[in-house]
Amino acid sequence: MTQEFYITTPIYYVNAKPHIGHAYTSIVADIFIRFHKLIGDDCYFLTGTDEHGQKIATSAREKGTSPQELCDEVSKLFQDLLPELHIENDQFIRTTDESHKKIVQQALQDVYDKGLIYKKDYSGKYCQGCERYLDEGDLDEEGCCKDHLNVPEEVSENNYFFKMSQFQDQLIQHIEDNPTFITPEQYRNETLGFLKEPLQDMCISRHKDRLTWGVEIPFDTDFVTYVWFDALLNYCSALGYKGNEKFEKYWPEVHHLLAKDIVKTHCVYWPTMLMALDIPMPKRFLVHGYWLMEDTKISKSLGNAVSPLELKDEVGADPLRYFLAAAMTFGRDANFTMDLFRERYNADLANNLGNLVSRSLTLTVKNFDSKIPVASVGEKENELFSQLQKLWQELVEHIKNFQLGKAANTIPAMCGFVNRYIDEHEPWKMAKEEDKKEDLARVLKAQCESVRFIAGAIQSFMPEISQKILDCFGLQVPTGPEFFELGVLEEGSEIKKCPPLFPRISGK
Ligand code: MSP
Repeated sequence: MTQEFYITTPIYYVNAKPHIGHAYTSIVADIFIRFHKLIGDDCYFLTGTDEHGQKIATSAREKGTSPQELCDEVSKLFQDLLPELHIENDQFIRTTDESHKKIVQQALQDVYDKGLIYKKDYSGKYCQGCERYLDEGDLDEEGCCKDHLNVPEEVSENNYFFKMSQFQDQLIQHIEDNPTFITPEQYRNETLGFLKEPLQDMCISRHKDRLTWGVEIPFDTDFVTYVWFDALLNYCSALGYKGNEKFEKYWPEVHHLLAKDIVKTHCVYWPTMLMALDIPMPKRFLVHGYWLMEDTKISKSLGNAVSPLELKDEVGADPLRYFLAAAMTFGRDANFTMDLFRERYNADLANNLGNLVSRSLTLTVKNFDSKIPVASVGEKENELFSQLQKLWQELVEHIKNFQLGKAANTIPAMCGFVNRYIDEHEPWKMAKEEDKKEDLARVLKAQCESVRFIAGAIQSFMPEISQKILDCFGLQVPTGPEFFELGVLEEGSEIKKCPPLFPRISGK
C-alpha cells in the first residue's frame, strides 16, 4: 500500500534575501522528499513565504516601497532559488495568496464561534524580530530578547486572544504519549519545559491603527490577524483545508521541518490552534540547529549572511547540498566556513567519489572497448557487494529516522570500500599483463557495478551528479528498490567515460 509523506519548511520572511540557513532547510526537505519518492511513497513538498506583519511593513517603509511590492520582489528570490539548488517542491505558498487569506478568516471565525476567542486589554513586550510577545523566559538579564539581542517594545493594546491555555494539559499529554512527535529529543524536552509554566492565552490581533498589513479579522474589521496565526495556517491552507481531498490525503502524514528559533510557535502555538480547529496533530516536528559563522547564527540582521546563489555558482548546487547535509548533525549547530567546505569537497567528493568514478570508467572504456566486461563474481566481489548493501541499508534507516548527517556520511564510506578494493587489486597493473585479462574483467565489472550502485544511492543528495554518472551507463535514476540489487549490469552493454564531476574550486 502506498504511504503518503508530506513535508513542509517554515515559510520564510520576505524582509531579507535568502541566506544559507534558509537554503539548508529547503535542501533538507528536498533530500527527504527525493528519498521517500525513491522508496515509493506518495509525496508532497510545500515551501513558501510569510508576507504579513510588522517586520515586513517596517522593512517596506524603510525601503520606500509598498509591502506588496516588497513581498513580490523578495518572494520571487526565494522561488527562483529553488531550482538553482535542485529543489523540486510541489507548491510554493505565499500568505498574500487570496486562497490562503480566505482560509485564515474561515479558521478564525470557526475558533471565534466556538467561544475560544475573547477581547481584553493587554500590555506586553513585543519583539519585532520574533513577531511575538515575549515571556520572562525569552529575556536575558538585561531584559533583551535572547534571540535578537534587542530591547522589546512595550505595547499596550485592546486585543483579541485565543484561549490557548485551555489546551495546555491536552498538549502535554500528546507529547508524552508520542515520543517522536518532536525530535531530536532535546527539543521535545525544551517544549515540555515551556509547558511547565502556565500557558498564556495567545494574542491573535493587531489594531489597524498600529498595523494594517495583515489578514482582516472577519468578526472585527478594525483589526488584522496576528502574523503567526496567519502564517502557521499555511500548512493546512496549501492543501485546501478541511474537507479537501488533498488535505485529507496528505495532512495525516505531515512532517514540519524548522530550526530551533521557532520551536515555541510550532510545537506549542500550532498544536493548540489545531486542537481548537479539530484538526489532527501533525505527525512530527523535525527541529534542526543553526548554521553559525564564527559561532554566531547566520542571519541578515547580524550582517553575516552567506548567499546561497553566490556559493552555488562557485561550488555547484550538488556539492553544496551534500556539504550542508553531511556537515551538520541534525539538531545541533554547525559552523560554516569555506575551509570546512573545501576539506569535505576534496576528501569526500573529488578524491573519493570523483576519483572512483573516473578511474573505474576510464579503465573499462580503455580495456574493454567501452563495454561492461563479461566476468564471474569472486569472493572478494561478493564481500564488496555485501558491504555496499549493508551501508545502503544503513543509509535507508538513517533517513527513515531523519538522521540526515549520518545518512550522508554513508556515502564516503561506500566509496571508501570500493576504493580500497581497487587499491588492493591494482587493475591498472593487471591491464599491462596479458594473462590477467580475466582478473581485470572481474575487477572492472565489480567497479562498474559499484559505481552504478553508488550513483543511485547519492540520488537524493546530489541528483545532477547522480544522473551524470548514470548517463555513462545509459541508465536512468532509480525509481524503486530493485535498483539496489547488485550484479545486475548487463555484460556487453555500452558505457562511456564520465565528464569531470568535481572540478577544482578556487582557493584550494
Ligand atoms: N516566517 C517565520 C516562519 C513561519 S512558519 C509558519 C520565520 N521565518 S524566517 O525567515 O526567519 O525563517 C526561519 C527559518 O529559516 C528557520 O526556522 C530555519 O528553517 C531557517 N534558518 C534561518 N536561519 C538559519 C540558520 N542560521 N541556520 C539554519 N537554519 C536557519 O521564522
